[in-house]
Amino acid sequence: MTATREHFGSRLGFILAAAGSAVGIGNLVGFPVNAVKNGGAAFLFIYALFVVGICLPVMLAELAAGRASQRNPLGAFRHFAGHSLFATVGGWLSLITPYMIAVFYSVITLWVLGYLVAIVSGDLQQLSDPAYFGQFINSPQVFLFMALIALIVGVILHFGVKQGIERAAKVMMPMLFVMLVGMVIFVLTLDNAMAGVKYYLIPDFSKINAQVINGAMGQAFFSLSLGMGILITYGSYMERNNSIPGSAKMVALTDTAVAFTAGLLVIPAIFSFDPGTNAEELSTSSVALVFTFLPKIFLAMQSSVGYFGASVAAAVFFLLVLFAALTSLVSIIEVSLAGAMDQNSISRNKALAWVGGSMVVVSIACAVSFGMVPFFTGFTHYAGIDKSFFDVVVDVFYDTILPLNGLMVCLLVIYRWRKENFNRELEVGETKYKGTLLERYTDLALGTFIPVILLLVFINTVLAKFFAIHII
Ligand code: TRP
Repeated sequence: MTATREHFGSRLGFILAAAGSAVGIGNLVGFPVNAVKNGGAAFLFIYALFVVGICLPVMLAELAAGRASQRNPLGAFRHFAGHSLFATVGGWLSLITPYMIAVFYSVITLWVLGYLVAIVSGDLQQLSDPAYFGQFINSPQVFLFMALIALIVGVILHFGVKQGIERAAKVMMPMLFVMLVGMVIFVLTLDNAMAGVKYYLIPDFSKINAQVINGAMGQAFFSLSLGMGILITYGSYMERNNSIPGSAKMVALTDTAVAFTAGLLVIPAIFSFDPGTNAEELSTSSVALVFTFLPKIFLAMQSSVGYFGASVAAAVFFLLVLFAALTSLVSIIEVSLAGAMDQNSISRNKALAWVGGSMVVVSIACAVSFGMVPFFTGFTHYAGIDKSFFDVVVDVFYDTILPLNGLMVCLLVIYRWRKENFNRELEVGETKYKGTLLERYTDLALGTFIPVILLLVFINTVLAKFFAIHII
C-alpha cells in the first residue's frame, strides 16, 4: 500500500488544503461572536494562548503519526499500538468521529448553498423573514441541494489528493481570502462600523471566567481540525522533505488570522445595522446567526447600497461560507475514504461509492430531523431538552468527543510510539527542529498537562451536555 500512496504536490498545496480544512463556519461566524461576547481582544488573547500552547503540539503529534505510519487514523493506531484495546478504541473513534461530522456538516453546507441560490435569485428580502429558515430546511428543495453538494464533493474526491483536494484548495482558498478582505473593506465604510471595531478590539478582561476559558479551548481545538483524524490522514499524504513544524505553524496562523479577520467583517456589520447592539443578546449558535440573523443585516445594507448592492454583499458572503464549508467537508470525508481504501485495499472510486453512498443515507436522516420525520425530530431527550437526530450527532461528535480523541493521540505518540521516534520524525524535513524551544515544550506538554487538560474539558462537557451538571 505504502508505495502507491498518494501525496500532496507541494508544501503550499498541503498548507492550503490543511488550512482549507480548518477554516469553516466556526471561523467565520462562531469565533467573532464568541469573541465579542467574551471580552473582545481578551478572548482573542486566551484563544491564541491555547492555539500555541495546546493545539500546536497536538497538531505536530497528529501530522507526525500520519506521515510516519503512512496510514489512515485506524491504521496509524494499529501501526504504533498493534491490536491492543487502546489502538482499537482510539483508531475506531478517529474514524467514526469524522464520518459523523461529515454527515451533519453536509446538511449545514447544503443549507448554505440553498441560501446562496436564493440570494442570487433575488430573494434576500424573503430570507430575512425569521420564518424562512424553518420553512426552507423542511422543504423538498433540501434533497436537491444535498445531491448538488454530494456531486461537488464527490468530483473533488474522485480526483484524489493532488488533482482533487489540493487543486480545489488552491482555487477556493485564495478566492476566500480575497473575498474576505474585500468584504471587510466594504463593511468598514458603513456608518457606525467603527463602534463595532471598538467593541471587538478593546479587551475586557473582567469577562474572562472559567467558562469562557473552557469555551476558548474548545473553539481553538475544533477550529484546527484536531481530534478528527484529518491531520493524521493529511500527514500521511505529506512528502518527507516537507517541514511538519513549519507547515503546522502556517496552518495555525492562517486559521487564526481568518477567524480574527472575519470578526472585522461580522461585528461591524452587526453594529452598523443596529448601533445599540447588545452583544450579550447575540445567539451563541453559529447556525442561527448565519441563517436567521445575518440575512437581516445584509438586507439592512440596502439603505446605503440599494437592494441590488445588499444582495451582492450577501451573495459574496454566502459564497465565502460555502467555500469554507466545502473545503472542510472534503477533508473530513477523505478520512473515511482513506480508512476504507487502506483497511480494505480497495480503489478510491470503490471507497467513494461505499462511503459516499452510506453518508448520503445518514445525512438524509439528519436533514429530515427538523420536522419532516417525527422519529428523527423527536429522537431522544437528555439534560432536560428534547433532541433531534441532528442535535445528537452534533452534541456527541462535534461538541464532546474531539478532546477525547486528541487525548488518545497524545498518549499514542508519547507512550507507544515514544518521544525519541516522534522527534526524529519531526526532524525529517526540518533539521533545525532538534533542541528548539518548541521541541522541548512539545515533549513535556504532550506527555503531561495537555492530556490532563483535554480529559478535564471532555469530562466537563459530558456532565454539562448530557447530565446538565455544571461544574464551572
Ligand atoms: N473550523 C471548522 C469550522 O469552523 C471546524 C472544522 C475543522 C471542521 N475541521 C473540520 C468542520 C472538518 C467540518 C469538517 O467549521
